[in-house]
Amino acid sequence: MSSHLEGATASNPRFAPPMDFAAQAVAGREIQEQASADRLAFWEKQSRDLLHWDTPFTRVLDWSTPPFARWFDDGELNVAYNCLDRHVEAGNGDRIALHFEGEPGDSRSLTYAELTSEVKRVANVLEGLGVGPGDRVAIYLPMIPEAIASLLAVARLGAIHSVVFGGFSADSLRARIDDAGAKVVITADGGYRKGRASALKPAVDQALADRGNGEQGTVEHVLVVRRTGQEVEWNAGRDVWWHDVVPAEPATHEARAFPAENPLFILYTSGTTGKPKGILHTSGGYLTQAAFTHKNVFDLRPENDVYWCSADIGWITGHSYVVYGPLANGATQVIYEGTPDHPEPGRWWDVVEKYGVTIFYTAPTAVRSFMKQGRSIPQSRDLSSLRLLGSVGEPINPEAWKWFRDVIGAGVTPIVDTWWQTETGAIMISALPGITDLKPGSAQVPIPGISVAVVDETGEPVARGDGGLLVATEPWPSMLRGIWGDPERFVETYWKMFADRGYYFAGDGARLDEDGDVWLLGRVDDVMNVSGHRLSTAEIESALVAHPATAEAAVVGANDETTGQAVVAFVILKESYLKENTAEGLAGELRGWVGEQIGPIARPRDVYIVGELPKTRSGKIMRRLLRDVAEGREVGDTQTLADTSVMSVITAQVR
Ligand code: PRX
Repeated sequence: MSSHLEGATASNPRFAPPMDFAAQAVAGREIQEQASADRLAFWEKQSRDLLHWDTPFTRVLDWSTPPFARWFDDGELNVAYNCLDRHVEAGNGDRIALHFEGEPGDSRSLTYAELTSEVKRVANVLEGLGVGPGDRVAIYLPMIPEAIASLLAVARLGAIHSVVFGGFSADSLRARIDDAGAKVVITADGGYRKGRASALKPAVDQALADRGNGEQGTVEHVLVVRRTGQEVEWNAGRDVWWHDVVPAEPATHEARAFPAENPLFILYTSGTTGKPKGILHTSGGYLTQAAFTHKNVFDLRPENDVYWCSADIGWITGHSYVVYGPLANGATQVIYEGTPDHPEPGRWWDVVEKYGVTIFYTAPTAVRSFMKQGRSIPQSRDLSSLRLLGSVGEPINPEAWKWFRDVIGAGVTPIVDTWWQTETGAIMISALPGITDLKPGSAQVPIPGISVAVVDETGEPVARGDGGLLVATEPWPSMLRGIWGDPERFVETYWKMFADRGYYFAGDGARLDEDGDVWLLGRVDDVMNVSGHRLSTAEIESALVAHPATAEAAVVGANDETTGQAVVAFVILKESYLKENTAEGLAGELRGWVGEQIGPIARPRDVYIVGELPKTRSGKIMRRLLRDVAEGREVGDTQTLADTSVMSVITAQVR
């Protein structure tokens, strides 16, 4: 098996799929041909082939009231049945669904039959707690099997889950619970991270605490998994232990069919304003594209493969490529609870070796931190089971791409660089590993059935090689159906810019190269990408100004070798505070403060205390200039500043 370079240039190498891989690939050229011949017929076929419909649909797409799409809308299905029961009924109940590896080294494997039974019990419990179709359930859990069972139990009832990443603070959790109007919260006493039991329940207690303003929260019950055994406060009547109620339920529960457009989940993500958006996804179209891409992009053979996606269920990648895609396809997968480097830097590679992982999907930031640790760590493990690698969340720089393939992939495994978003629900742009010649650094081509373009501000395609805005020119099955409770913001944010053409604007800059391959150029709005996680400059700025010492704040995403971008804050302090404290002391305090307000992922790498911020005559902060300072570059054009000398003052203060 050897890879060969074909028609490549030194600066733009290409790697053809290994011959034996290509010969057996799940996705062949015919799916591309079918999709380009008739896009809707293609999705219709995928949906019928990949899913079980209790009531088969007769309509594929209703786009009569754009941008509100309806896919397969007269069909009915149960999402959890598609991920569980039908595999058991087909005789695959003994297949492992989940190999769970806990950070302290405990492990557990669940077959499809066992996971199905567990989900039925949890569904019974939730019904007993009053959860029915359309109700919202917030999930705040570590990466343990109960998390996956919880999502599926909610889906089984036709209810809507809203997963909140366990690294978010009590305030962030409260905002999400309130916005969604959740009836039940599912949490744990804690989870293991970096060798410690890290508490979760106190944040839930704090999020649900009396607001002192007479306002009644919507949460009626909290279902608590015991994971770490740490002490928890108990609110009798509201709180219920998972281990008291779940095992006591019968493992029987009939999965009712729900309409294809029944909401499946809300997932909050950062936008350009301070308030996170509740991205809404529905059932039939979402599951179709999640299953299709999981099978074809990852070349899945469910009977043989052991798949591992390192994402947490708190992010969209965990929803689509840990829960729904893999389980709809009957895959065997690994889930891992903790951090990559605990108890020692080779932990992930031990997991690959232990379970014989064949397909591994992760983020460039992780690859870059492994690069820093050196190749001897992975090379001391047996990684020969791996046959396909995937990347998601941010552009993977060619150097990291090559390291990933050489060191982790034995120099031969294809790497699929997958571009998509919380909003797109599933992969939109990626190589198909058996047919695409790979180009490190480029996400490459829209998957079959997806249409994208790179356009200028008027919607006209830009010339090959030129930078422009990435748009989706046609609706797709797993597209977001809205922003929870805010249809206007949905239209405004994604559709207004190219309203006359009906294009979805993704917020990313991109360019097409001479072959038509897509290169992502990063966000063109005020959204940052730190370790593949989306953060809004406005949200962090509002956390900073909420601190009593802050007069004004501006936040930028600066290039960072490991995390892609890093949060850098420029803060003007109130005079009175500076008299009593040192600038360093306050900078440290503000970093911690942001961590508490939003969550540790939002904590700025640097906080610079400055005397002024660069503003235009109309008062708009010129973040571009601050980014120059943060990245140690010469400061760009300052002509539009109200006071052109301000940048030299700031630069001097920062250095
Ligand atoms: O900027 C793009 C970047 O991540 C953004 C979406 O973030 P989120 O909704 O959190 O979803 C991340 C996981 C799907 C995009 O707007 N992004 C994602 N994948 C890539 C990427 N940028 C470049 N290459 C990618 N493969």
